[in-house]
Amino acid sequence: MIEKIKSHIAAVEAFSSTNAEEIENFRIKYLGSKGLLKEFFAAFKEVPVEQKKEFGKTVNALKNTAESKVNSLKEALESQEEAKGVYGDLSRPGEPISLGSRHPISIVKNKITDIFARIGFNVSEGPEIEDDWHNFTALNLPEYHPARDMQDTFFVEKDPDVLLRTHTSSVQVRYMENNEPPIRTISPGRVFRNEAISARSHCFFHQIEGLYVDKGVSFADLKQTLQYFTTEMFGKSKIRLRPSYFPFTEPSAEIDVYWGLETETDYKITKGTGWLEIGGCGMVDPNVLENCKIDSNEYSGFAFGVGIDRIAMLLHQIPDIRMLSENDVRFLEQFKSSF
Ligand code: PHE
Repeated sequence: MIEKIKSHIAAVEAFSSTNAEEIENFRIKYLGSKGLLKEFFAAFKEVPVEQKKEFGKTVNALKNTAESKVNSLKEALESQEEAKGVYGDLSRPGEPISLGSRHPISIVKNKITDIFARIGFNVSEGPEIEDDWHNFTALNLPEYHPARDMQDTFFVEKDPDVLLRTHTSSVQVRYMENNEPPIRTISPGRVFRNEAISARSHCFFHQIEGLYVDKGVSFADLKQTLQYFTTEMFGKSKIRLRPSYFPFTEPSAEIDVYWGLETETDYKITKGTGWLEIGGCGMVDPNVLENCKIDSNEYSGFAFGVGIDRIAMLLHQIPDIRMLSENDVRFLEQFKSSF
């Protein structure tokens, strides 16, 4: 009996076919529910005790050989079928291609840079790790200036100070140092402040800085530019410039957009006032121009800075700023239809 099984093993090993039906018949012959293996296993109890061990081993070997033979022949058959045409098997269902989505911060940033590109602004960038001069001193915040406390800074090194920029206004300075007026540039980027993290504020967020320096630039130009921006961005043209203070602009103002009070959401996001603050602005302080080697008697300019995260939260009804940096796919996937 053992010899008989051994000869089956040899037969199985020698078997080969590229015909699906033949392979299936072969499978049924050995592994089918009425196949040879069933018979051999059933015969086990008739085998004399001293032969049981070898018998069991041999039957198992036959089973394993038959199984792997059937599998390898089937695989070979499938890959052969796939390779038949240049395009493989055209009846197979297509592989779904999963498209990514843009991050809401990028969506808003691109929209803003597009709007300003249309009126001649280029895009400039600067480093996130800054020195004291570009982040503070050149912007009229000399050492010991109390306004330095307005922005809690993360220091990388002390003396000389190396820090994570607290605003994109540092890029203004770099741009003015390296370019002659007329200057029309916007600088998007990430900024950092040592602040407690909550649903409304984070220790890093994004701003877009705008800078226009030329002969005869006035506050009216600033207002007109901002009005153009809010109309294009939000479809809202009513803005309000509230007097404020920034060391690098004089005069300075906070920019408010009239959002309206029609829906419950309008109430919520404007705290019942209808007005929404989107950033700060002002006329570039002559000292700042001089710090960047631009003649303040000949040239004037305006600058503004708006928060990208705030706008993204507003436009997409995002309730918590932390969602913007948690990278939860369930959140990010919702922006697939945006561009
Ligand atoms: N840098 C200011 C801030 O971070 C915003 C600003 C930019 C104000 C340019 C005036 C001009 O709050």
